[in-house]
Amino acid sequence: MLTMAVPKGRVLKLLVALFERAGIDAKVLTDDDRTLVRESGAMKFFLLKPDDVPTYVEHGAADLGVCGRDVLDENQPDVLRPLDLGIGRCRMVVASKVGVTPPPVPRVATKYPKTTELHFAKKGVQAEIVQVRGSVELAPLVGLSDLIVDLVETGETLAQNGLEVKGEIAQISSVLIANRASFKLQRAEVSELIDRLRAVL
Ligand code: PRP
Repeated sequence: MLTMAVPKGRVLKLLVALFERAGIDAKVLTDDDRTLVRESGAMKFFLLKPDDVPTYVEHGAADLGVCGRDVLDENQPDVLRPLDLGIGRCRMVVASKVGVTPPPVPRVATKYPKTTELHFAKKGVQAEIVQVRGSVELAPLVGLSDLIVDLVETGETLAQNGLEVKGEIAQISSVLIANRASFKLQRAEVSELIDRLRAVL
């Protein structure tokens, strides 16, 4: 049996649809209950907060996981990344209130402090980073920050809050990740799963 850590939230439905196309029955993931372990055929799924997926895979509590590039870039877990799943596509951007020029040493609110620090350091800009856990778009509206670094999918959240993109940091999508030992020890099962997914991407 293969174990897979999957993220609760907006990517989950896309993931189930992708699995269905690949002939992997993952309908248990859409059951509307509070169980955290769901079994289907030769797969056992663990339902997690997206940020926690790489932790379970790195430590071998799950053989495989599905995780956004944003989370991988931020946490740099020691895991393999055999396949980009092409779902959950969005952009990580720098944004501000419409028409506002940030000060030379901007304050930046984000869920991604390490990625943000690296981005501004590469540009030679000193930035003061304020970590928040969600609703990042609020920060510039109430004076917590000059800029935000956050994910943009449709752009609706930025638009509805009077914010605009100032620059792009990365293209994001969901990636299949694998525990290093599991990848070797369960090579046949993991390879079969990857082949099935790759065939429908
Ligand atoms: C994400 C992201 C943006 C929003 C972007 O937040 O952090 O806030 O979606 O989507 P859009 O461009 O389609 O409007 P999420 O809904 O995951 O909640 P959060 O604010 O609590 O992180």
